[in-house]
Formats: sequence, structure tokens, C-alpha cells
Amino acid sequence: MQSNMVIYLVMVIMATMSLSVLGRVVSNNHGNKLTMKDELPSFCNDLDCPKYTVIDDTHETWEERLYSPASWVGTSLNGVDFDKAGEKMFMKLFAYIGGENELGVKVEMAVPVITRATIDARTGLFVNNYTMFFYLPYKYQNITALKPTNPDVFLWTEPQSKIFVRSFSGYMSETKDLFNAGAMAADLKDEWDYDHGYIYTAGYDSPWKIFVRHNEIWFVGKN
Ligand SMILES: *[C@@H]1O[C@H](CO)[C@@H](O)[C@H](O)[C@H]1NC(C)=O
Ligand SMILES: *[C@@H]1O[C@H](CO)[C@@H](O)[C@H](O)[C@H]1NC(C)=O
Repeated sequence: MQSNMVIYLVMVIMATMSLSVLGRVVSNNHGNKLTMKDELPSFCNDLDCPKYTVIDDTHETWEERLYSPASWVGTSLNGVDFDKAGEKMFMKLFAYIGGENELGVKVEMAVPVITRATIDARTGLFVNNYTMFFYLPYKYQNITALKPTNPDVFLWTEPQSKIFVRSFSGYMSETKDLFNAGAMAADLKDEWDYDHGYIYTAGYDSPWKIFVRHNEIWFVGKN
């Protein structure tokens, strides 16, 4: 890994830790009252993450969720392999939350970090065309999102969507992502209709979280 990448990642983990401490303080102040944070899945690590309801949890290996409309910041990269593309896109989005936006302010880290990979229909492998998205914190959702100053970075609002989700632990890699996507495709068979052109991976943990890591593969449902 490049050394500047390591520095960025250390900054991410520090930001993440201070936010989760803040999250706990806030919930303590609220006593028994349920705060919004308390309703979020534990794998969100006390960070802002998109709201969803589970619409089908009757299957052992996957669930179907309904996500509310959500705002993201994204960047795309073509013709670069998975690992290298991931690093480069991460740094661009990390620069956006670090201040490369119209107000020059820092934006808190939220989760998940999504990577959308284009699938070659014949081989089932990744075409090297990727887009990475950071979910924006609640206060920047919708029209309040800050415009990026880097022309490679864009804001994106996803309408309400149905997502098929398979969760797995450990560290993500191209091989593991493809394995889990293949397994979910096999389980969904032709009974559930989804967009076969892309695989989405959702990461929730910093590289320094070693145990109980939570990752997801997403297929976007049709209709
Ligand atoms: C943004 O606000 C509009 C109007 O209030 C609403 O219709 C839309 O669903 C909102 N989008 C998000 C992502 O919250
Ligand atoms: C990958 O991106 C390039 C450049 O935008 C585009 O020309 C090409 O069609 C894309 N490939 C696929 C399979 O989407």
C-alpha cells in the first residue's frame, strides 16, 4: 500500500473512533429514550447509515431490503484493476469529506462505502469499470449535500430501491466479492428479478477492525 494511503486510512480510523465515542455520549445523555442511532444496525458502528426495512428475511443466506431515497458522493474509474481503482477512488472521496467541497468543510465519515463493479455478462468477472460511493451523513442528505470541487467527484441521489443482500465477514477482496456474489446469484436463481449488470459491495469497517467485520454484496432489484 502507498504510504499516503496509509496516512489517509489512519485518519479515517481516528475520525471513526472519535465519532463512535461521540455517538455513545449522545445516547447516554438521552438515557432510556430511543435515539435514532439506537435503531441502526450494530454493523453501522454508530455512524450514520442509510435507513431500510427488511421486506424478506425468510431465506438463510440473503435478505431483501427496501431502502429509502439516499444521497451519496461518488467517483468512477475505468481501465484500472480492482485494488488500484479502490485506492484511487477512496482517496478522491476521502479528499471530498476532508474539505474538497464548496464550503471547504470536513464532512463526517458515514457508512457504508459502496463499490459498484460492472460485470462481463459472458465471463461473470469484473470489467475494470468501477464507481465508489460514500454515504453522506444525515445532515447532508438531500439538497443540503455539499458540491464537490473536484470534477471527478459527483453527488448522487438514489431513489427508493429494493436490494438483495448477502452478508459476509473478514476482509473484502476481488475473489471474495465474486465468490459471494456468485453464491447469492445461485441462491436467487431466476425467481427474483435483479440487475445482472453490476455487483455492489458495501463495506462498513475500517482496515483496523480485525474481528467481527461486516461486509455485504448487494444486487439491485428490478421493479
Ligand atoms: C428530498 O426532498 C424531497 C422534497 O422534500 C423529497 O421528495 C425527496 O424524497 C428527498 N430525497 C431524499 C434523498 O431524502
Ligand atoms: C467501461 O468504461 C468505458 C469508458 O467509459 C466504456 O467505453 C465501456 O463501454 C465500459 N465498459 C463496460 C462493459 O461497461
